[in-house]
Amino acid sequence: MDFNENNATEAVLNSFARIEDKRLKQIMNSIITHLHQVVKEVEPTEEEWMKAIMFLTKTGQKCDDRRQEFILLSDVLGVSMLLDAINNRKSNEETETTVLGPFHAPSVKINNGDNIAKTVSGENCIVSGKITDVNNQPVSGASIEVWQSGPDGLYDVQKGDDIVDLRATLETLEDGSYMFRTVKPQYYPIPVDGPVGDLLQNLDRHPFRPAHIHFMVKSKGYKDLVTHVFIDGDKYLESDTVFAVKKSLIRKLEHGIDDESKEKCLLLNFDIVMEKE
Ligand code: BEZ
Ligand code: FE
Repeated sequence: MDFNENNATEAVLNSFARIEDKRLKQIMNSIITHLHQVVKEVEPTEEEWMKAIMFLTKTGQKCDDRRQEFILLSDVLGVSMLLDAINNRKSNEETETTVLGPFHAPSVKINNGDNIAKTVSGENCIVSGKITDVNNQPVSGASIEVWQSGPDGLYDVQKGDDIVDLRATLETLEDGSYMFRTVKPQYYPIPVDGPVGDLLQNLDRHPFRPAHIHFMVKSKGYKDLVTHVFIDGDKYLESDTVFAVKKSLIRKLEHGIDDESKEKCLLLNFDIVMEKE
């Protein structure tokens, strides 16, 4: 029988009959069923379909070993956070997770109290907290990777030099505590010089993320944790372009004095609860 509108989906699903990998078969069946449904519902013109193909082509062409435009696309369409929600269902009091983002990179080890702002200046800020398990027991020796943008909204890896700035790895002390000095993060736009930027413009959406500091926490016997701390009062908290804000991760900045320099600074407290593996 000829391939037609009525038998199209069945014909393609039948062509998967010999797939042995059950999971692959399930995924392909689902993708084709939904994709055909979209095409039947929207009835794109051939020009529209070519536009979609060219968009995906440009998205691929924008990717290299530093830039991943497909992940950015998944981020702005809420797919990354949906995946995060499905794979990190909260079972207890553990700290909530959020997207990794494209700016995670290797960083140097520092001691507690060190300043991670090497060349960037801004409003001085002390970030501190305690890492515990769900029974409130300290997690000592946990590795904490932190990374953030500066007051100019840029991460070091976006600057084209090899200076490692505003990122570091530190370890929690015996009582689970940690502390580092930095500058206040600022809201910033995700990279918009590619097809995802064009898409946001066509959809009349802004490209901004509210100010945050990224954390990746690891400790033997515990689930790795990828999260951020967000700054209360940021104007983009309600409209993060990658949908990654969770209320439980928002903290107020307090005013204080740095007891080393005796100068005024901002204080940001972020306690973290880890879940056993
Ligand atoms: C980030 O927070 O670094 C980020 C996350 C998703 C997309 C772009 C940037
Ligand atoms: Fe970020």
